[in-house]
Formats: sequence, C-alpha cells, structure tokens
Amino acid sequence: MTAPPAIEPAAPARRDFLGKLGTGLGILAAAELLAVVVAYLAPGKGGAGRGAGLVVAGPVGEFTPASVRAFPGGQFYLVRLADGGFLALSSRCTHLGCTVPWNEEQRTFPCPCHASTFDEKGDVLSPPATRALDLFPVVIEGGIVKVDTSRRISRARFEPGQVVHL
Ligand code: FES
Repeated sequence: MTAPPAIEPAAPARRDFLGKLGTGLGILAAAELLAVVVAYLAPGKGGAGRGAGLVVAGPVGEFTPASVRAFPGGQFYLVRLADGGFLALSSRCTHLGCTVPWNEEQRTFPCPCHASTFDEKGDVLSPPATRALDLFPVVIEGGIVKVDTSRRISRARFEPGQVVHL
C-alpha cells in the first residue's frame, strides 16, 4: 500500500506574491470606500445640492403672497413676499452652514446651531451670522416659477432689486 501523495506547500515566492496582491486589493477597496464616504458627506460646491440644478417650483398661482415653502431637495425656500414678488433663499446659514428651519409663527429662520436668526427676506436679525442668506436666481417662464440652484448668489443684505416679479 502506498501513501497518498503529499500536498506540497506553495512556493515561498508564490505565497509572497499572493500576500502582496491581497494587501494591494484591500488598500484599493479601502480607498474606494473612503472616496464614496467623502463624496457623500462633502457639501455641494457652490450649488444647492447634488444634482439639484434647475428646480421647477410650480405655477405662480400655487404660491400665495406672504408665504414660504421649503424645497429640501434643492436646499432652498421659495418666499413669496406680500407684494407678490419671489425670492429663493438658501437654507444654509451664512455663519457655518447649518440648515435653517422656517418658523411660521415667528416668521423667521432660526439657526439651531448658534442662534443666528434671519427674517423672511433672509436678512440677519441676530448674530453670529453677519450677512443675509444666499439667494438662487428665480425665473418665471409661462407662469411657472423655476429656481436655478446651480448659481448661488451671496449678498450682504436684502435689496429690493433682488425680488423677482411677474
Ligand atoms: S451655523 Fe448658524 S449660527 Fe452658526
């Protein structure tokens, strides 16, 4: 009776190569995962958000005067002032970028991070923020309100020329 053939261990050079290949693939996978996480967490560069672009807000008649409507996907509020004009305000606080909610009762945007407050035109009511909420261009075409979230406009304060009328 003969003994079964012994399985020979892999040659040291081959084992070394496989070890290095495994390490390299592990590093590559970790780098790819890191890139995905960073891309997910990084804020948009100048725009309102990933892939937002031109947002069709809706027919003019859907927005009553003296109203504020949130567009979370575009990261802005569409404000229709009492005179019927429109402003698209960024929802990012100009202090350190926290998202500001709309308080309908007080008609303000109070920042939850460091207590800056903005009025319905985006002007600063209380610091530490020093300048008004950013704007996005509003276009009204064929009675439809559209907001271009790819163009963020920074400003010191509200000025009547920023309001878009029919
Ligand atoms: S981020 Fe809004 S007050 Fe600081």
